[in-house]
Parts: sequence; C-alpha cells; structure tokens
Amino acid sequence: MAIHYQQENRIFSLHTVHSTYQMKIDDFGFLLHLYYGGKISGSMDYLLTCYDRGFSGNPSDAGEDRTYSMDVLPQEYPGMGTGDYRSSALIIHNADESDCCDLRYVSHNIQKGKYALEGLPAVHASKEEAETLEILLEDPVSRVQVRLLYGVLEKEDIITRSAVIRNCGTGRVIVEKAASACLDFVAGEYDIISFQGRHMMERIPQRRETGYGSYVFGSRRGTSSHQHNPAVILAGRDTTEEHGDCYGMVFVYSGNFMCEAEKDQFGQTRVLMGLQSDLFHYPLGQNGTLTVPETILGFSGEGLGGLSNRFHRCIREHIYRGRYRNRLRPILLNSWEASYFDFNGETIYKLAEDAAELGIDMVVMDDGWFGKREDDNSGLGDWQVNERKLGCTLGSLIERINGLGVKFGIWIEPEMVSEDSSLYREHPDWALRIPGRKPVRGRNQLVLDFSRKEVREYVFDAICKVLDQGNIEYVKWDMNRSISDFYSMENGQGRVAYDYVLGVYDFLEKLTGRYPELLLEGCSGGGGRFDAGMMYYTPQIWCSDNTDAVDRIQIQYGTSFLYPVSVVGSHVSAVPNHQTGRSVSLHTRSVVAMAGTFGYELNPEKLTAEEREAIREQVRQYKSYAELIQGGMYYRLSNPLEDVCAAWMFVSESGDRALLNVVMLEVHGNMAVNYVKLRGLKKDAVYEDAATGKCYYGSALMGAGIPMPVRQEEYPAYQMELIEKL
Ligand code: GLA
Repeated sequence: MAIHYQQENRIFSLHTVHSTYQMKIDDFGFLLHLYYGGKISGSMDYLLTCYDRGFSGNPSDAGEDRTYSMDVLPQEYPGMGTGDYRSSALIIHNADESDCCDLRYVSHNIQKGKYALEGLPAVHASKEEAETLEILLEDPVSRVQVRLLYGVLEKEDIITRSAVIRNCGTGRVIVEKAASACLDFVAGEYDIISFQGRHMMERIPQRRETGYGSYVFGSRRGTSSHQHNPAVILAGRDTTEEHGDCYGMVFVYSGNFMCEAEKDQFGQTRVLMGLQSDLFHYPLGQNGTLTVPETILGFSGEGLGGLSNRFHRCIREHIYRGRYRNRLRPILLNSWEASYFDFNGETIYKLAEDAAELGIDMVVMDDGWFGKREDDNSGLGDWQVNERKLGCTLGSLIERINGLGVKFGIWIEPEMVSEDSSLYREHPDWALRIPGRKPVRGRNQLVLDFSRKEVREYVFDAICKVLDQGNIEYVKWDMNRSISDFYSMENGQGRVAYDYVLGVYDFLEKLTGRYPELLLEGCSGGGGRFDAGMMYYTPQIWCSDNTDAVDRIQIQYGTSFLYPVSVVGSHVSAVPNHQTGRSVSLHTRSVVAMAGTFGYELNPEKLTAEEREAIREQVRQYKSYAELIQGGMYYRLSNPLEDVCAAWMFVSESGDRALLNVVMLEVHGNMAVNYVKLRGLKKDAVYEDAATGKCYYGSALMGAGIPMPVRQEEYPAYQMELIEKL
C-alpha cells in the first residue's frame, strides 16, 4: 500500500519508491502538512513546533493556548481568514460578503487506482499502478466543501494533487482564488527555478533564491503562455544536476495560472500552484462545483537530472494517451518555412515527392489552404478547402501523396476568427469581446468564445468535414494570439477564462475520440501553450517558432527540465535562419533538431545535391536513434546559458546504448580543449564508439570525460553513439 492512515495519531503517509509525503489532522480538524522529501519511516509530527509568536493569532478552538497559530503551522490547503497571513490556496467570497474559508476535516477514503477529473486532463494510471486518497474538508459556516485529491504513483515517484470545491450552502459564493497544490516547508533555504521567455524564446530557466516576501509568476493571457511556463522547481541551494534535493510542480492546465513562492517571517517556505486569481471570479450556486486542475509533484534526492527523468517518464506513460503514446513519431516536412502562404496542390505534391526521395515520412500542409487566406489577415473560421488555390480537391491531393508512400498532415487554428471571414460576418457575437468596447486584435484576429457549446459544435463540424476528405494522419493545432477580452456574451466575465480552456479540452476530447489514429501536434506561435494539459491530447508540441539551432539549444535545454524529448517538435530549417539571420551548418542544425521529434521546415528544391544526400543520411540516422531519443533517459551535461558548449545525451533504460550530442558555442584563438563528462552509463561496462570502434569504460567517460575536437569553425556539432560491448 502506497497510502497509509494511522488512526491513533491521524497521520496520512503517501509513499513512493524514493519519497514520502505526510500530513496530519490536528485536534481541531485542521489538515497540517508534515513532510515531503526523501523516503522516511515513522511519524514526522515531531517537526511541528509551537511558540507564542507576537501578531500571529490563534484559533479560538485552542482556548487560552497562544502558541497554536495557523500563521506558522504548515498546512495542506490554507484558506483565507483563519489567521494565516501567508498566501492562501483558496479564497472564497461568501454569500454574506465575507472572505473567510475555515476548512476542517470531515472524512477521507483510500482507493486503488488514480482519480480522474471531470472535463480536465489529468495523470492516468491503472489500478495496479496508483492509489488515490480523498480528504473531505468543510467550512462549517459557509458549508463550502473541498475534496482534496491525492494520486500516488509509487513506482514513478510521482504524487498528484487536485481539489474539487463544492458549495453545499444555500447562498451563492464566488471562488476568487484556487490552487491545486500547496507545499509548506518548515525549514530550509531554497532556490526557485522557473521557465520564462517570450515568443520565439520560450522556457529559458531562471534560478533565483527565495527571499522574504513572494516571488509570483503566471499567465493572464488565456493560455499557459510563452512568457511563463506552468511549472516550477524548488531546489536546495546546493542542488546540482547530479546531487541534492529538489521538487518539481507541473500544472496540468493550458490557461491562466499562478505560481507563488513565499518565504515567511520565520524563513519557512510555501509554494502554491493553481489557477490565476486575476480575471477569475468563479460563481458557485447551491451545489455548484469547481475542479481545480491537477498539479504533478515529484521529488528527487539525486539532483535535477533525476527529477527531469521522473517527469519525462510520468508524462510519457501517464499523460500521453492514444495511438502515439508509445509510438515513434513520423519525420515531417512542413510547408511553413518552405513557402509560407505561397503554395498550391502541385507545390505541396512536389514537397511530398522530395519527402519520399529523402526518406521523410510525412508532408504537412501548414496555414493557407482554406477560405480566403493569402496572408494572416483574413480567412480564419472559414474551414472550407480552397480548391481554387490548391487546383484540386483535398482528397485527390492526399491520394496522390499517399501514392508516393508519404503520409499527409494539415494545419488548423480552430479557436480563431478573422474579422474578414464569412464566419465573423455571420456571427460577430461568437468572438470574445467586452460589451461596448472594441476587441483587442492580435495578429489581426479575434478569439472565438470556446466556452460556448454552439460555437465549439459549429467549428467541430466544419473541421470534421475537412478531416473526412481523405487520409489525414496528423493535425497541427495552432493558437496564434493571447486572449485579451475576457468576457463571454453568454457567460459573462468571472468564469470565461476557465470555461474557455475546458471548452478547448472538450473539443480535443471529441476530436481524439472521433479520430483515434490521428497524431495531434499542439502549437501556439510555437511554444505558447506548451504544458502538460495539452500533452494529454497532443503528445507533440511545436516547441518554438524559432528554428535557429543556437537559440533552440537554449529553448530545448529549458524545456528538458520537466518535459520529455518526445513532446518537443523540432525541425531543421533553411539558412540564413528566418528568425535570426544566422547561418549554422546543416549538420549542427540536424543534431539540435534530433533532440526532438525531428523534421524539416524548408524547401528541398533549394538544396544542393550534397545537402540532399546529407539529409537522406540524417533521416536514416534519426530513425536508428529514434527509440533512444524518444523513449530513453535524458541527461543535460552542460548549461548552454553559461558554458562553452551545449552537451546532452540519451541513454537506453538498460544503459546498453547511448547517444552523446555536443555543440560548441564558443570559438577562440588557441582554444582550450573542452572535456565533456558523460552520465547515465554503467560504470563497469565497456562502450564502443559506433563510428570509430574505439572502446571506453563507462567509469572513464563519466569520471574523466571525453575531449572535444578543437576546430576553427563556428558552432560545430558532434554526435557519438556508444554501444555496450558484451
Ligand atoms: C504559427 C506557428 C507556425 C505556423 C504559423 C502559420 O506561428 O507556430 O509554425 O504554423 O502559425 O500561420
């Protein structure tokens, strides 16, 4: 049993192979947090200390005892108004206009299997793989109930948390803030690692010390955003890639979120992950409920590398679903950077001929195939194939492409409408807008109100009519602006940010249900909605609109801390690069794109015969590494934001095969030799370099490293495949 309840001292213990999570119901019914960290035995309630602290109030249940204060005690789900002045997990505006929520224990139950969340993505696991603990708390005055949910995936070292809030009172309450996880630490000095960025430069890690007060980040853009990823790592000050304690929190949600890391007056740390409280006033009538999206928690006592591999595995095995959950992904040739809006059926067919010739599995027809869409100013919402532009029907084009032995994929952006479109002219009220105000434009387009069923149903039908026209095996689902007009003509303001995201999930659930064979790749101007919520439907996400290999090294480095390589859409594009103007060798571009699902985003017509030959070889190589890359263990061997080189490697789970990747980032006159130390190998095993036949002990490669050649060249890349010699 992974979950234990000790009746005598009312302690819950959640055990995974390497971690323990403990909490306790105190004498007054408060649910206190006791411990989360490396696996321990026994009760951790000895960690709780009580002193009379000035200006930290005491619950009246404690009588004359001035030492018992919610302002100091670690808690599982702190509500506003109980004498805890730190950030709350929950703020409820009650029918009587007060903002108090004093949650006390009512009951609990433990079950085999993992809970699911209605309308929301969540970690899934079989009865053998997981257990669920539900704890019911209630504010006896307002009768607001919170069902705290804990999923324990023992073998994966993963614990999940969520909360379902129900109004059991008679008046209407408003949920003003709701987190799904709160982690309180009574002691310790921590760093917060978060993943910040912007369009074309997403998820750049930032490590900073927690200080007195709060460090808060999140999104108010309607999507999880390019700017702040909904994930965080709390690491000990001395924690490195290989050593030390660290905790990860990954929010399984694709909309507005908020993460807060607070250090209180006594140096205690609280981290909250949940829904963004701005633009959120969720009304609950009698018996109304709100499900707070899930947070996945992981702990590693072996540094950040161990934490990453835990999350990678969890997402691969327990977030992805459907046909591509454990399948290798096709290598793509995408039309976007090849020709942007300037294509027709023949040029797409030509791309497919090139794909066939180069060994590429699939051609993707990106933006521009529907309605009136010669640039990005019009046509969104009119999901009818522009047969005049293509010069043929979609069905006949796909048939011809399939005839070459090449699969076909297509781009869509279902949540959007252009003002210059038939859909908008017919249904201007379907766009999100605030009454009496002109909506804010983004990429000259508006956002459809996906919180409304009729809007979703209309778009769903239109998209299905396209997908039914032929053998479409892949869809790239895009979302190319931030939401700004949070107001639904049907649902008002308070709930639209959340209901919109649930609408998107509902659409995706229906789409994956109707087309179970389809591979969906998520996208939002690249990585603007790169989160575990989307990964539940789209096991692949276009990592960034920036395809420059050198920038991608940083983007993919940050992404790797919590998300698996198999979700990372990564392509080789033309040089000079369209986003940066930089020219990097074809080899280096391919090594960087191989840290992902791999593909091309260029016009093969413009390549020389030598380059075509090189691409054929890259495709062949990627196919031979694909299992290792997409399913293996992943190790960051350097920090490309600081070091002279970027180095990372993939290792098979049994440790018998590995692929080292290095890109030199600096070149200087008379340069010092750079030694890269490998990881994840078996110490006593002998590995052969597949290219040269040279043999090395695992202990040598990991202990002393391997020298990288010194070359007079910018950004040279090296790959080394190592195979255990038996
Ligand atoms: C976004 C995507 C690109 C491309 C364009 C099409 O920017 O990230 O890859 O699909 O839209 O408009």
